[in-house]
This record gives sequence, C-alpha cells and structure tokens, in this order.
Amino acid sequence: MIRKVSVAPMMDCTDRHERYFLRLISKNTLLYTEMIVSEAIDRGDKKKLLSFNINEKPVALQVGGSSPKLLANAAKLGEEFGYDEINLNLGCPSKKVQKNKFGACLMKEPDLVAECLSEMQNSTNLPVTIKTRIGYDDIEDYENLYNFITKLKNTGVSKFIIHARKAVLGKFTPKQNLNIPPLKYDVVYKLKKDFKNDQVIINGGITSTDQIQEHLTKVDGVMIGRAVYHSPYFLAEIEKNIFNNNNVLTRQEVIESLIPYIKKEISNGTQLNQIMRHTLGLFHGQTGSSFWKRYLSENLCVRDADIKKIDHIMDKVKLAPQAHSVG
Ligand SMILES: Cc1cc2nc3c(=O)[nH]c(=O)nc-3n(C[C@H](O)[C@H](O)[C@H](O)COP(=O)(O)O)c2cc1C
Repeated sequence: MIRKVSVAPMMDCTDRHERYFLRLISKNTLLYTEMIVSEAIDRGDKKKLLSFNINEKPVALQVGGSSPKLLANAAKLGEEFGYDEINLNLGCPSKKVQKNKFGACLMKEPDLVAECLSEMQNSTNLPVTIKTRIGYDDIEDYENLYNFITKLKNTGVSKFIIHARKAVLGKFTPKQNLNIPPLKYDVVYKLKKDFKNDQVIINGGITSTDQIQEHLTKVDGVMIGRAVYHSPYFLAEIEKNIFNNNNVLTRQEVIESLIPYIKKEISNGTQLNQIMRHTLGLFHGQTGSSFWKRYLSENLCVRDADIKKIDHIMDKVKLAPQAHSVG
C-alpha cells in the first residue's frame, strides 16, 4: 500500500509516546520509529526497545547496522512485535554512526548493503525499505545514485525514501548535514522517472500542504520530519487538505484524549515529562502558545513532575488561547 505522507524517523523524538500523540491527530500517515541499532536489539531489552501501543499503527521500524545476520534478526523481531515495515537507515551522517559502519557511510558499500537487504527480506514477510541521501561528499553524480538504487532494487526492495540532500561525512555535524547541503528535489523526481514501478518517497524541507501537493504530482509520497515535530498540529492540516478527512480532533481534544494514556503509562512507571515534552509545539502559531510551553516547561516537563498537575491541564488548555498577555 502506498502511504502518501509519513513522519520521519527522528532520534530522541519519534519514540512511542510521540507516535501515540501524533496518531491522535492523524489517522492516515505512516509513522516511523527512531533508528534502533541492530546490535542493541540483539543484546538489549527487546521488549523495552520494540514494544509499542497498537493504536500507533501503522508504524515502520527503522533499524541501523551493517551486519546481515543482526539486521535479519532485527527484521524478524520487528515482524513479531507487529510493525508494518522494516526500514534500513542509509542516510545518517553522524560520526558515531560512521565509526560503527552504519547510516550514510554505507552508500560507499553497495555490495554489503545488498547483502544486508537480502538477508533481511529472507527473514521477514514485511516490506523492507531504505532511507538514504542523494549522494555523499564529492560523490553526487546522478549515475552513482542510480547504480546504488538499482543494486538495492535487485535484492527485491521496492520502496526508496530519499532525503534530497547529500551527506557530508566527517566534516559537518549532524545538524549542519540537515541544513547546509542544498536540497535537490529534481534528482529525486528523476529517480522516480527511472524507477516508475517502484515507490519513491521524497524527504527534506517540506513544510506546507501546498508543497506536499506539488511533490505528489512527481513522486509517490512525502516524508516530513522537523515540521511535524515542531508543530504537530500540521498533521491536522495534512489530514484535511491531503486526505480530505475533516474528522480531526481539535488541539484541546487531542490533550483530552491523551490524558487516559498518560495515566496508564504513569501507572506503569513512565515519567510524565517523557510524554509531555512531545506536546510543547501543539499550539505552535496560536495565540497563547508561549503560555502553553511555559506551563509545560515549569510543571510537566520537569523530572518527577507531579501527576496531579495533569488534572489541571484542561483548565490550562482552555486558558491558553486567551493567554497571550501571559506568554
Ligand atoms: C532530531 C533529529 C533526529 C533524526 N534522527 C534520524 C534517525 O534516527 N534516522 C533517520 O533516518 N533520520 C533521522 N533524522 C533525519 C530525518 O529523518 C529527516 O531525514 C530530516 O530531518 C529531513 O527532513 P525534514 O526537513 O522534514 O526534517 C533526524 C532528524 C532530526 C532533526
């Protein structure tokens, strides 16, 4: 199934609480986990790393690694835990990731990537997909990208998520790598022309439903990261304008619907701030947004935040839109 809009994998952002919260706003988008390293899945607490609330579905598990055996194991476990897709990260440029040989530096090793993808597909019936960049360092000619994607396609992969920037390895920080290399959407459009029967999803710098509509005339789907994290209610606009779904919750209703989840999670040992931190941007662009942020920062996004404060939150939500003088 083609998902026209997805929310990007983002470390420290798209954890299970964020995904539960986003799903209250959007029924039609595909959500991705943060990257989870295959070695951690092998050695660590699998339940802690992989379990999620069924209401979050559809969810894709993004994994990082370069060991065919460990990635195959991660894919198999991903299916057992109920994920809908397994995605291999071939785009992360951080130094730590390079040292461990995964992420964008794997663009230099197409044979190894192909072996990983083959093993992953042998171990799961779920779609195995990749997320990569248009190039790296001085290697930014289209031919190289075309050959890379062809090699991966030959293993059976048929969905390619392309961040329309190259990665600059070793020189730029991860943050610089998200902003400095220029976006080249044309390269991704060309890829779709050359891989007509495959799904090509475009990513990078998408911030409005007009831009989404425009991209959807050229590629199969868009993936959005920061614009959703900083302003989660952007997803409501996407539901309305892209999916013709007018049955979306108001911001207040989103918080109301989140409260039973929060109470249940807290009774299972989750810290309140682990959930609430994701809601800081809910009122982004609204009068009273800074009031909301301040209330959260002072009361609910602190360590050992008091659960009782949750019961006052609805009053604060009602107050927030008028509270511009306080913010
Ligand atoms: C805080 C943060 C964490 C990220 N973590 C990941 C990750 O775990 N895996 C990944 O493939 N990309 C990661 N990315 C990159 C995003 O998935 C996405 O490709 C990038 O932000 C560009 O999309 P945007 O302009 O819509 O934000 C991260 C980006 C940010 C801002």
